[in-house]
Amino acid sequence: MSRVDQFQKDGYLVIDGFNSAEDCDALMQRAMWLAERYDYKGHPSIFETGNQTMSADDYFLNSGDEIAYFFEKDAFDPKGQLKKGLFESLNKIGHAMHDLDPVYDRFSRSPQMRKLAAELGMSEYLVIQSMHIFKHARIGGEVDVHQDSTFLYTEPNTCVGFWFALEDATIENGCMWATPGGHKTPLRSWFRRKEAAGLEMHVLDSSPWEMHGMQPLEVKKGACIVLHGALPHYSQPNTSGKSRQAFAIHTIDPAAHYPERNWLRRETQSLRPL
Ligand code: FE2
Repeated sequence: MSRVDQFQKDGYLVIDGFNSAEDCDALMQRAMWLAERYDYKGHPSIFETGNQTMSADDYFLNSGDEIAYFFEKDAFDPKGQLKKGLFESLNKIGHAMHDLDPVYDRFSRSPQMRKLAAELGMSEYLVIQSMHIFKHARIGGEVDVHQDSTFLYTEPNTCVGFWFALEDATIENGCMWATPGGHKTPLRSWFRRKEAAGLEMHVLDSSPWEMHGMQPLEVKKGACIVLHGALPHYSQPNTSGKSRQAFAIHTIDPAAHYPERNWLRRETQSLRPL
């Protein structure tokens, strides 16, 4: 079966050995380099998929055009001080490093990435978002079941994610889980800006998640998982002693309508393709 057919059938594709170990290491080193230069002033933005209406701070809302830093919710003591070092406390960095940082730009638009995009008929697709996800040992939180198109909503739905394992992802350290064919179920919600201020999870379809078919997508360092925007997926907390770093980019078809009310806005950067 061709990759295109497999992707259309399952809603995801697992490609082993997509990036070299050296490229994965270089990206993890770059994240550490960026974090060392982050001028943290004690006003954290915490990232929780289960509680995103609470993330309506300007730092989050403006992060579409920035290199911004988000903490694990368990990183703080009752007084609001970081319990560990800054790097070990980070949940992720996002959401425009693929356009603002040369190392992330190269990784996001690698020769193999362009080849894959062409194979999937996505050469024109724009990279609208990127994030470096740390999932640090013992603190890396769960990511609730969601569909990426909820956060990168287009009409029609065109969002496709590329998730790159920078380290081995196992059940123990919180690999991704998904159901083959799950993308054929409706888009449940649209995470958008309210008419006035703030954010809301607008329900489009109230069908419950079907959890029984969820399979762990355990992959080695260097693998790429392509994710259809309508595919429900999640990951469990990292209770192991090993981190599970990953880098993800999300793409959309420039021909699709991208509503103004989407949470993520790209105002100062012109979008570029893969
Ligand atoms: Fe996701």
